[in-house]
Amino acid sequence: MNRNPLSLRHSPRRLRRHPAMRGMLQEHQLTPADFILPIFLVEGEGIRNEIGSMPGVFRHSVDSALKLCGEAVARGVSGVLLFGVIAETCKDAGGSASWDKDGLVQKAIRAIRAAYPDLLVIADACFCEYTDHGHCGILSADGDRDDNATLENLQRQALSYAEAGVHVVAPSGMVDGMVSAIREALDAGCHSEVSILSYAVKYASAFYGPFRDAADSTPQFGDRRAYQMDPANRREAFRELDLDIAEGCDMVMVKPAMPYLDMVRDLRVRCDLPVLTYQVSGEYSMLQAAARAGWLDLQRSVLESLLGMKRAGADAIITYYALDAAEWLG
Ligand code: PBG
Ligand code: ZN
Repeated sequence: MNRNPLSLRHSPRRLRRHPAMRGMLQEHQLTPADFILPIFLVEGEGIRNEIGSMPGVFRHSVDSALKLCGEAVARGVSGVLLFGVIAETCKDAGGSASWDKDGLVQKAIRAIRAAYPDLLVIADACFCEYTDHGHCGILSADGDRDDNATLENLQRQALSYAEAGVHVVAPSGMVDGMVSAIREALDAGCHSEVSILSYAVKYASAFYGPFRDAADSTPQFGDRRAYQMDPANRREAFRELDLDIAEGCDMVMVKPAMPYLDMVRDLRVRCDLPVLTYQVSGEYSMLQAAARAGWLDLQRSVLESLLGMKRAGADAIITYYALDAAEWLG
């Protein structure tokens, strides 16, 4: 065998030597249109409060959120994902504040649609930010989630977002049957134009920690393992995927992103729907903390993490870095 490197026939590195060659042969690219920016909304005016566990991310009153949307449009970000954070005194057992036609998210949807017609408006559909117990739905007497009652409330919530003008409803509560219940309510309410982005494959993850702080949605007791997926499971995800497809969802999501890129790839291969992934709060805070300590280069690490999601097969990425990443790519 000839091991003389001078006579190497196959050299992958030949294609990496020239910058133009590298540019020409790059297999995946990020663009600002890949990104969706999550926004935390609060009541009031002129409010922009930084979230302790997510430095650089703020809770915004609707007027301040509009400015953020302006930035998003200017930088070519595709859309925003809205979360409402309400006062403790407005919460109840069912989360009824979430389907108030003059609720926080509904007001924001109307304002954003009017000010920025080119921006895609997505609303997270869940109850943990609106219930006094902090679980993702209504509870039965034994403390378990009552899925049938929750589905009815989910229909009310989705319909009220649709009436406010939302483009996409994104149910995140891992309620069996949530996609068909929402589809039925939207169609019956003459909103068949509204699409459904299902959090189809959502794991019970420690990486949601900072979000629960931001959205004030930590369960008062117990955890979410009785409805979110076990991080150990893959096959179960395919079942969730098949059910959501059968129920008529338009797009599916894997969440969190970085520890679950195998699932992004698997969903990409197994279905022909758009697959999105959510770089969640803990992923954001981890990168942010390391960069602030001087241990990581923020721009390079963030863009590399996002590129990894695209390479895994994501069609779009929900990320708190949407505005920064769009600017860096700009
Ligand atoms: C609510 C919801 C959560 C996230 C999005 N929607 C938290 C949870 O399930 O506890 C997490 C987002 C993030 O961590 O950035 N159902
Ligand atoms: Zn929830």
